[in-house]
Amino acid sequence: MQQPRILIVDPAGPAGLPYDRLTARLQPLEVRVEPTLDTALETLARDAWDAAVIAARSGPGAEAVLAALRQADPQLPLVVIDPRPTVAAARACMRGGAGDYVGLADAETDLEDALVRLLAGARRRAGEEVLRRAVERPYGYEGFLGESPAMREVYSVIDRVAASSVDVLVTGETGTGKELVARALHARSRRAGGPFVPVDCGAIPESLMESELFGHERGAFTGADARRMGLVEFADGGTLFLDEVGELPLPLQAKLLRVLQERRVRRVGARQENAVDVRVVAATSRNVDEMLAAGGFRRDLFYRINVVRIDLPPLRDRGDDVCLLAEHFANKAARDMGRPAGGLSPDVYQVLKAYGWPGNVRELQNVVRRALAMTRTPMAGIDDLPDELVVAAGRAAPPAVGDGGFFARRADHMARFERQYLADLLTRHRGDVTAAAREAALPRGTLYRLMKGHALDAGTFRGKPTEEHV
Ligand SMILES: Nc1ncnc2c1ncn2[C@@H]1O[C@H](COP(=O)(O)OP(=O)(O)OP(=O)(O)O)[C@@H](O)[C@H]1O
Ligand SMILES: [Mg+2]
Repeated sequence: MQQPRILIVDPAGPAGLPYDRLTARLQPLEVRVEPTLDTALETLARDAWDAAVIAARSGPGAEAVLAALRQADPQLPLVVIDPRPTVAAARACMRGGAGDYVGLADAETDLEDALVRLLAGARRRAGEEVLRRAVERPYGYEGFLGESPAMREVYSVIDRVAASSVDVLVTGETGTGKELVARALHARSRRAGGPFVPVDCGAIPESLMESELFGHERGAFTGADARRMGLVEFADGGTLFLDEVGELPLPLQAKLLRVLQERRVRRVGARQENAVDVRVVAATSRNVDEMLAAGGFRRDLFYRINVVRIDLPPLRDRGDDVCLLAEHFANKAARDMGRPAGGLSPDVYQVLKAYGWPGNVRELQNVVRRALAMTRTPMAGIDDLPDELVVAAGRAAPPAVGDGGFFARRADHMARFERQYLADLLTRHRGDVTAAAREAALPRGTLYRLMKGHALDAGTFRGKPTEEHV
């Protein structure tokens, strides 16, 4: 792959920031420094760049530069480095679309960090764009998104068995897409023109189940004042999807087995049987072995439908599919809410990937929808995710090479920024906490607490000349 190319916009030119050391650290990135916004815009229009760094200092000001670059290239990842970081400036820059804001004192380590993260995000987005186009072809994969090896295997099994009329058992945790499999099997079979009849075996009251499934004759039981066709017959020529098949009472499982073997169905109270031409796709989210051992699932029925088994992988085993799905749901949610597609910030993807997703795709869909509904910024960020999810993801996050996981590094980054900010602030105000608090727009108590957290004592800043720290 080509080297990532970074454009640095610094009105003060190479004299201003320690670029030599910076670029040395950023090897093997290709770096170019532009002295003015105008030249930067020209360069940006001429070549492809992977990210831009804006040095916040005199001239049009970081926010104006940010806005101009944003407008020139809405996708370009942007980082602001500020020799005098303030919380207010950080907020303004992030609001203006900066992917990161870095204090100059930390620039060497943090800038590298910030750029690596932004570039990874940008490349991932570019890759997803390609994937999405591939997946969203008119006959992509029948409502499924996902390109992980585990899901490709699922598509390939569906492809192989759809055309035959063989019955299929679909297993997988809740929310993994079992119903989508059943619909795909139907859509890809010669039965596609016939009915697709889903039956939630767990939701129908036990007393009604038999007549719902198999129908009844008039007068078969109290209240049966008309003859009625059951769902099995209703699916004639099509596909019957029996969801949570293990919830069927045992006597009905026996009756179902007969339907599967004979392709005939007898209505409740009827003498003769009617022939039916159905394909049965059964599903369960429960552990089949446990159900068999406990006797909740008849072995003969199980062996009959387990001829072809499609086991859906949990979302946590699908690698980058999580990001692909999240982006898809975010765009869809934005469309539904009539908003521009701002999407999810790169941080969010890190958290989503680290989380275990017990509710799988359905849970992801809900989390993303909620984040987009809650956010006050154009992009939904970590703050818009449920706390429990962020905490669980933090616990589950695998440590990155050397430095601990994402959350550890973020905390470290924040702590360094805080300490540097406080030290600069107190130096400027020569240890005058009241004046410092006023500049920082913080209550004095908060400032004291922050100082205490970093073991900073106002006394040590008294009498120090301001220049010394700049
Ligand atoms: N790979 C996927 N791509 C896109 N959407 C998906 C995918 N998998 C599942 N979904 C969506 O997630 C939701 C849950 O899927 P589905 O109802 O098929 O799950 P399930 O396995 O039947 O869950 P349950 O066991 O809880 O009934 C649906 O809205 C479905 O469209
Ligand atoms: Mg389901």
